[in-house]
Amino acid sequence: MRQGHSYDAAAHPRLGRTRPLIGLAAATLTLAACGGGGGGDDAAAAYPDGDITFVVPFSAGGPTDTVTRLIAEPMSEELGQPIVVQNVEGAGGTIAAGEVAAAEPDGYTVLMHHIGMSTAPSLYNNLPYAPLEDFKTVGLVTEVPMTIVARQDFEPQTFEEMVEYVKANADTVTLANAGVGAASQLCGLLLQDALGVKLTEVPYEGTGPALTDLVAGEVDLMCDQTTNTTGQIQAGEIKAYAVTTAERVESLPDLPTTEEAGLPELQVGVWHGLYVPAETPDEIVQELTGALQVALQDQNVIDQLAELGAAPSSQEEATPEAHTERLSSQIDLWQPIIEEAGVSAD
Ligand code: MLT
Repeated sequence: MRQGHSYDAAAHPRLGRTRPLIGLAAATLTLAACGGGGGGDDAAAAYPDGDITFVVPFSAGGPTDTVTRLIAEPMSEELGQPIVVQNVEGAGGTIAAGEVAAAEPDGYTVLMHHIGMSTAPSLYNNLPYAPLEDFKTVGLVTEVPMTIVARQDFEPQTFEEMVEYVKANADTVTLANAGVGAASQLCGLLLQDALGVKLTEVPYEGTGPALTDLVAGEVDLMCDQTTNTTGQIQAGEIKAYAVTTAERVESLPDLPTTEEAGLPELQVGVWHGLYVPAETPDEIVQELTGALQVALQDQNVIDQLAELGAAPSSQEEATPEAHTERLSSQIDLWQPIIEEAGVSAD
């Protein structure tokens, strides 16, 4: 990798053109020797000639952050430039998505986001972006199972007991999530709908901090991704009742599926993709897609995801064409479900 030099990037002409958020984040970066902005074709030909920022819409240490940092390393090696991971929390991931939609379309600002990219249009009336119009997709990264978990001293021992307990104590049970539009909130919505209850939701900036409170016993329940909960489940620090996939997860072999537990309708997988602003040149998108496809074949990525209950997407799914189709069909899929649930963020 080319050696960089450190400078106040906020004053750098290219980075200065980006919105304050990204420029600020770049202010203390050590960047490779940059060839400057250059015109569109020149820029695409020279890409990448400096640090790339991967924006994560949730707190550091959570499942989205974990997946991002895992693929950032081999992608950085393939692209020959450092990848800086920047956490931009708030509003279930929509603040980060709005910032990236408005960032310079030069390939130096990339969004990692998940199923929330498809549910936000149905949840937010005033969304500052349109997923299919304001972004180009780079490709699918992975799909992650969700686990229904509780604080360790939560009374119910089994899924069935949890269902009965929650139905009988709905007015006191608390349910953590990462805000309206988060996968944890969507799964919590489906759980409450299936149980016919309305619980007290406790929103966090990510399920990293939410899990910390669950382990501490500050909140009762959460539905969250195995990329976050696997370690605490295996360590016995939290209770786990079920996994939301059709088959059991190898890294949690004793955890029944929701179907085995009698709730087959509660099946949800959290798919994650990479996105760039819509005007980003196709040549640059191709560079990013190529690096993603290499990363998804990296043995460490495969092994780490497997330990956390997930797997890299296929090379066919890790393409702009396939992921745009998935995003479009998922937006259509979730719209009536969310409308029926009567949930809105604003
Ligand atoms: C969520 O949607 O719940 C997020 O994935 C949580 C996170 O990544 O922190």
